[in-house]
Amino acid sequence: MRMSAAQTAAYVCIYLLAGLFAGLVVLQFREAGTPSFAFAWHRRAQPASTPSDASSTSPAGSNGVDNTTPPWTFEYTRDGNNHGLSEEQCTAAFPLLTMEIDRAVEYRHNVAGNITLDDLEIKWRGHGILRILIHENQLYIVDTLNVGRGHRTRYLATLNSINAALRSYPGTLPTVEFTFTVQDNSLIGEGNSNRTVLAYARRAEEPSVWLMPDFVFWGWPQFGMPSYAADFRAVLDDSEMAFLDKKPQLVWRGSIDNNPARKKLAELSKDQPWSNVRGIDWLNKEDPTKNVISMEEHCDYMFTAMTEGMTWGGRLKLLLNCHSVMISHEMAWLEWYHHLLAPSGEAQNYILLEHFDGLRKTMRRLLEPAHRHEAQRIADNARRVFREQYLTPAAVSCYWRALFRGWASVQGFQPSPWMEPEVDPSRTGKLRRRPRGTSFEAYAIMESTEWEVPAQPRMLVNDPETYW
Ligand SMILES: *[C@@H]1O[C@H](CO)[C@@H](O)[C@H](O)[C@H]1NC(C)=O
Ligand SMILES: *[C@@H]1O[C@H](CO)[C@@H](O)[C@H](O)[C@H]1NC(C)=O
Repeated sequence: MRMSAAQTAAYVCIYLLAGLFAGLVVLQFREAGTPSFAFAWHRRAQPASTPSDASSTSPAGSNGVDNTTPPWTFEYTRDGNNHGLSEEQCTAAFPLLTMEIDRAVEYRHNVAGNITLDDLEIKWRGHGILRILIHENQLYIVDTLNVGRGHRTRYLATLNSINAALRSYPGTLPTVEFTFTVQDNSLIGEGNSNRTVLAYARRAEEPSVWLMPDFVFWGWPQFGMPSYAADFRAVLDDSEMAFLDKKPQLVWRGSIDNNPARKKLAELSKDQPWSNVRGIDWLNKEDPTKNVISMEEHCDYMFTAMTEGMTWGGRLKLLLNCHSVMISHEMAWLEWYHHLLAPSGEAQNYILLEHFDGLRKTMRRLLEPAHRHEAQRIADNARRVFREQYLTPAAVSCYWRALFRGWASVQGFQPSPWMEPEVDPSRTGKLRRRPRGTSFEAYAIMESTEWEVPAQPRMLVNDPETYW
């Protein structure tokens, strides 16, 4: 079923209005019966090249004298969409990838101790949480709590992203059991500040949260970006303008009301010649699509403005994919690649202005011809570090696997992949065991199927009244 242009535009609007907070709101616009975009990722590793076969492309050795093979190196155009890099290749390609995972592991070592089975209870979260088991690279859904239509694209995107990392990997990962929530403010609620859960974002003062790649890294169909790799990144690779050809303005779209930083940005950019900052009023009955532009169109500008919304800002990784200069206020929410943002120095890859203070001066200066090269250097750094390295689908899959290894290193229990054995009369009393969870492959296609065996996926998406 295809969406009309107006519907698509309405989705775009919602995104811009509320950033990640829009999840439940989006429901009101969602067409009932839109087919699932979930699918199992069966592409087996088609590795770029392994360290041992790198020599075939190397001129060394062709004269039969020098047999040393040059080390494998990551090449963006060749390897960027390869989900199946080996552990060594991941380390070589993304040396700073696991800092957030290392931090979460250190927190267990230094403060909280090993993860226990009690940590995997899901009732505390209320809704939008799943309990997951990975055994021999097979992804299982063990339990869910009030997961429904409002969460649907998020959990399906996340499960697909995990499955891509598992299915494409030639090695075997440790057996792990964990929970993840698709909620923006993962630890909301009294007594939850120390909960152990995988989430898309955390505040600095929420060290017990393990950060995982959010659903935007897979796709965000609600705002016209069905696939991160195919519909956004591939389009940019193909048709993004050269930096100096871009419009010499600062672009931003969204609802101005849900964060003070947005108000400040709107104030400071009002009537400025460099401003392409526009508020969107998606409740405007006459023209709710006024001022809406796509994410790729954001990349047509030399400067982009980053704002958080009610919580974290889902647009961050998208803006960092542009070969543009991102200007941001100080963010309260961290994502898994946050440590790679460099606000100063040779490696500077964005501009940080506390509360957007000094925005006018900064814009005026960077637009002077004498300072364009400074702006271009920041944009170049951002492209190299984010678009061409750490925000590639290859890096996301490496991150998932490193996350599971890190988790396993402080997992203080041995997850059981099996249910209690049952006596099977047809086998003259011999015991038979069944998996404890529902395989992802089954979960992804069971939209309207009830089944008893082997497990009961508690998915409420069948009920049109159930939003979570
Ligand atoms: C969280 O953990 C810290 C350190 O163990 C402890 O001091 C604090 O009381 C805990 N808070 C809650 C709400 O359990
Ligand atoms: C914590 O868990 C790890 C991984 O299962 C295990 O090797 C280690 O011995 C555990 N440490 C303690 C103190 O139980």
